[in-house]
Amino acid sequence: MTADLRRSILAAIAQDGGNVAARLAGQHEVSRQSASAWLAKLKQDRLVASSGVGRGVRYRLVTLAQVRQVYPRAGLREDRVWRELIAPRLGDLPANVRDIWHYAVTEMVNNAIDHSGSKRVIVKLLRDALNTTVHVADEGEGIFLKIQRALNLYDPREAILELAKGKLTTDPAHHTGEGIFFSSKVMDAFDIRSGILHFMHDERGADVLLERPASAPGTLVLMRLANDSPRTLKALFDQFAAPEEYTFAKTIVPVRLAQHEGEKLVSRSQAKRLTMRFERFQTVVLDFAGVEEIGQAFADEVFRVFRQAYPATALLPINMTPAVEKMFKRAMQG
Ligand SMILES: Nc1ncnc2c1ncn2[C@@H]1O[C@H](COP(=O)(O)OP(=O)(O)OP(=O)(O)O)[C@@H](O)[C@H]1O
Ligand SMILES: [Mg+2]
Repeated sequence: MTADLRRSILAAIAQDGGNVAARLAGQHEVSRQSASAWLAKLKQDRLVASSGVGRGVRYRLVTLAQVRQVYPRAGLREDRVWRELIAPRLGDLPANVRDIWHYAVTEMVNNAIDHSGSKRVIVKLLRDALNTTVHVADEGEGIFLKIQRALNLYDPREAILELAKGKLTTDPAHHTGEGIFFSSKVMDAFDIRSGILHFMHDERGADVLLERPASAPGTLVLMRLANDSPRTLKALFDQFAAPEEYTFAKTIVPVRLAQHEGEKLVSRSQAKRLTMRFERFQTVVLDFAGVEEIGQAFADEVFRVFRQAYPATALLPINMTPAVEKMFKRAMQG
């Protein structure tokens, strides 16, 4: 069985454990018997398990590694968590995937140590034949409230827009505000839950098991990455660096995050909220996906007033509807 075929079977099971042999037979244009033989092989290899019989049989991916550890925050160091708890369970993964986990786990554990104020830090790993998932949780103040307080934001939801921009830190003497920006982009799924809010980055829309009530204290970070991911940290850092430089110089901002439910982007104050801290970047890509239209004052504030105040920051709008583009062009002529 080729690696590609194996991955495709495992993915089919992860998606839905029912009717697997028939679905695989259809998808790969083989007989049901052949598909059943593939499944038998994966069962023999202990990568999948089944329950039920006949047409009711259901398959699932076997948990290959599982560990949970509760640490007192005082005196904890992120490299210890990596070395003792996580690295030993990922030793056989490709180097690029191990490097990504090393980065993201140490960044998120460092956040819990330095920013949460929690008594305990809880780290959990789960691995199956397709993916590894790591959770880092604390019982502290909660990330969105902490950012809201530090930046004096009107609504904790604005903390999510600020996190998405990057270079957001509440402790500039010791931090640069890169950990969440890069960790969230390098994972297949990245989710921060705190209070009733989520900060989510998930290209495939797959869901993860909810393990905390909405009212739980503190912050929970969930990260998932395919064990054979082709991604590399270097390619990601390069994507947000200026050419020939290694610094974090560019960001992509989902403009729709500035739009609260049912709200249209029309006012100068909304524009100021959007452009807050943009001057720290050489280039800001403004992703207008999900934004139908913008108002004249909003466009003028972003594309004329901000540009004139900070000519060293280039604004590059993408995914504009014709209505948004019209306002953009008008502001640029002003
Ligand atoms: N577990 C947490 N509890 C409370 N606040 C948090 C937590 N994790 C992050 N934060 C808040 O989110 C901000 C952004 O985190 P991020 O990791 O992106 O940057 P940083 O830790 O400040 O800087 P860097 O990661 O570059 O050292 C932090 O400055 C902090 O205010
Ligand atoms: Mg950090």
